Amino acid sequence: MDATPQRAPRPLGLLAELTHRCPLGCPYCSNPLALDPRSDELDTQTWARVFREAAALGVLQVHLSGGEPGARRDLVEITKAAHDAGLYTNLITSAVGISVEILGNLYESGLDHVQISIQDNDPALADKIAGYKGAYARKAALAAEVVRLKLPLTVNAVMHRANIEHVEDMVALALKLGAKRVEIAHVQYYGWALKNRARLMPTREQVARAVTTVETLREKHRGAIVIDAVVPDYYARFPKACVGGWGRRSLNVTPSGKVLPCHAAESIPELTFWNVREHSLADIWDNSPAFMAFRGTDWMQEPCRSCPKAKEDFGGCRCQAFALTGDARATDPVCHLSPRHALVSELAEIREDAAYDYRR
Ligand code: SF4
Ligand code: FES
Repeated sequence: MDATPQRAPRPLGLLAELTHRCPLGCPYCSNPLALDPRSDELDTQTWARVFREAAALGVLQVHLSGGEPGARRDLVEITKAAHDAGLYTNLITSAVGISVEILGNLYESGLDHVQISIQDNDPALADKIAGYKGAYARKAALAAEVVRLKLPLTVNAVMHRANIEHVEDMVALALKLGAKRVEIAHVQYYGWALKNRARLMPTREQVARAVTTVETLREKHRGAIVIDAVVPDYYARFPKACVGGWGRRSLNVTPSGKVLPCHAAESIPELTFWNVREHSLADIWDNSPAFMAFRGTDWMQEPCRSCPKAKEDFGGCRCQAFALTGDARATDPVCHLSPRHALVSELAEIREDAAYDYRR
């Protein structure tokens, strides 16, 4: 057998998790359960180096994210560094913590795109889900300023049991705010959402209605707004090619500098992550054990190993496979061909019917 390692594919996107700090407390937050403290956060110069190394590696786009990136006092300098490195810059924000003045400075520094998360179209429910009074009003105000500056705006609408019936209203809100794109992002069950799964899970009927609604709205608003929507994993027949395949398209840098193949990779205990404080991004991408672990298809077990879809979905999500089976090499149980698929079908039916509690 030829053991010559193949050259790794090149990444296109970098998720820069600038901080885990955030004023909101959404029950499905994608932050890990153990947060990086402020004292461990990378400084401005290190982020600037990371962006230069990312551009040299082939990355085209950086998502400036968190936590809430507005919690970083040097967000404008960081954004300028990403822009100066030649990257397309997308700010992913809750809008709480970004003033009109800061947005203006970000715009002057080369910010290309803004994505604002909105918890619901009803202000009171939105604030309740976010755990922050007045959050909705601040989101609407910042969205107006984004549009006034003629920056492209995406609304990120995270859908779950408490708001899944509001899909049509959320799209109407995105249109009203002047967004060019809305993401109907059903909660997927990692991190905090996994912990709160029984309270967040919609019914199969709710999901089916939401899918039909999205199809109708796409037709109705064609040319006015792009509607992106992905079915919640637990109700799909096949898994998604999570992160476009492990170590193929993107990489995440955590607030303290660890480089992950996906945002939830730290939930897999067997993985070792290299840090940008000790290694270049290219070295990490090509050689770090975490990126090598599930790149390509050699690591696969049956039924993925001999499945014709192996190079399309790469066996699904490694973090989900680990969370549900305890084996990160297992076929994602979302796949109906997985010998453990019954697990997902059972979980999809388990819900807490007690009054919804929005706290983490
Ligand atoms: Fe994808 Fe594996 Fe299912 Fe085939 S068996 S469809 S490769 S997850
Ligand atoms: Fe980690 Fe899917 S979230 S591979």
